[in-house]
Amino acid sequence: SDADKGTYPYYMLKEIDEQPNVMRKLSSKYLNSDGKPVVDNDLLDAIKQSDRLYIVAAGTSYHAGLVGKNLFEKLAQVPTEVHVASEFAYNMPLLADKPFFIFLSQSGETADSREVLVNINRLGYKSLTITNVENSTLSRESNYTLLLHAGPEISVASTKAYTAQITVEAILAKALGESDNVEAAQNFNLKQQLGLVATGMQAIVDEKETINELSKKYFVNANRSFYIGRGIDYFVSLESSLKLKEISYILAEGFASGELKHGTIALIEKGTPVIGIITQSNTAGLTRSNLEETMARGAKTITITTESLAKDNDDIVIPDVDELLTPLLSVIPAQLLAYYTSLNKGLDVDHPRNLAKSVTVQ
Ligand code: G6P
Repeated sequence: SDADKGTYPYYMLKEIDEQPNVMRKLSSKYLNSDGKPVVDNDLLDAIKQSDRLYIVAAGTSYHAGLVGKNLFEKLAQVPTEVHVASEFAYNMPLLADKPFFIFLSQSGETADSREVLVNINRLGYKSLTITNVENSTLSRESNYTLLLHAGPEISVASTKAYTAQITVEAILAKALGESDNVEAAQNFNLKQQLGLVATGMQAIVDEKETINELSKKYFVNANRSFYIGRGIDYFVSLESSLKLKEISYILAEGFASGELKHGTIALIEKGTPVIGIITQSNTAGLTRSNLEETMARGAKTITITTESLAKDNDDIVIPDVDELLTPLLSVIPAQLLAYYTSLNKGLDVDHPRNLAKSVTVQ
């Protein structure tokens, strides 16, 4: 069955490996043969009546929401805010006139997110839940649901749910943009892109041994590390560092690469691993100089770049896809790096200390 580990030592590796298939599945579930999104019209109408999207989530799902903001703003031209559920619940910002809420939750059971849903239901606002679990609490209590179709995710560290969430956000953003005749959405060939993403993911997991080597050389004995990037590369840095912290217990910070020099660069020591994520042409050069600044202070720098932005000595080169979708590929090496570092340290990859898969307390 789907929830069977088979020959895999841990669910996490199985779930990382499943991602190309999840991409194909989402493409066939949500895009017709012409590549047109198949999304409930009532949902699209409800969102079109609003003037601002509020994405609310926790943990990895929050990081998928950050990537989603870019998609909704670029493809659908809807202003979008992304909030940590536990903060939003008790410190609600001044809302737009007609807010629409999107809850991202793999389990559909996170208490922090549910608290926000209960509050906004009381205020009479409409919402969508994007979740992996049909009939979950958040799904039942919001007006609309879009499923992730990722299959059961067992490992505590979330992998395929993150990439599925970004993909469903892209599908919804394209559907919204097309129904509003936004050119960026009309020109965005999502079906073709998801095909490229699936093939690209496969190519990266096929090279997993390279990442195991990097893990052994630079991470197993590290006590702190950094992921840096700008824009969506920064958002993937946040998710990448969370993965490493959760299961390898190495302090890892995801940082906006330009902000490092304003204080945090003081933490760089000889050998501190700093991974730069470089997938956006408008900021590639800047992030490269920020990496060099850390190198000058002794850091061991490692790069994750796309083919078209790659230089000769880059460490991990990922296939090119549309710049809006690079998080679907740049996160894969980071998932693998966390996996191997946990494994190489002899830890229980699927059951990290102090963590639960689904957190039903606030
Ligand atoms: C827990 C898990 C995280 C997850 C977060 C949100 O803390 O350990 O991996 O990202 O909850 O879960 P959700 O099910 O709402 O996506």
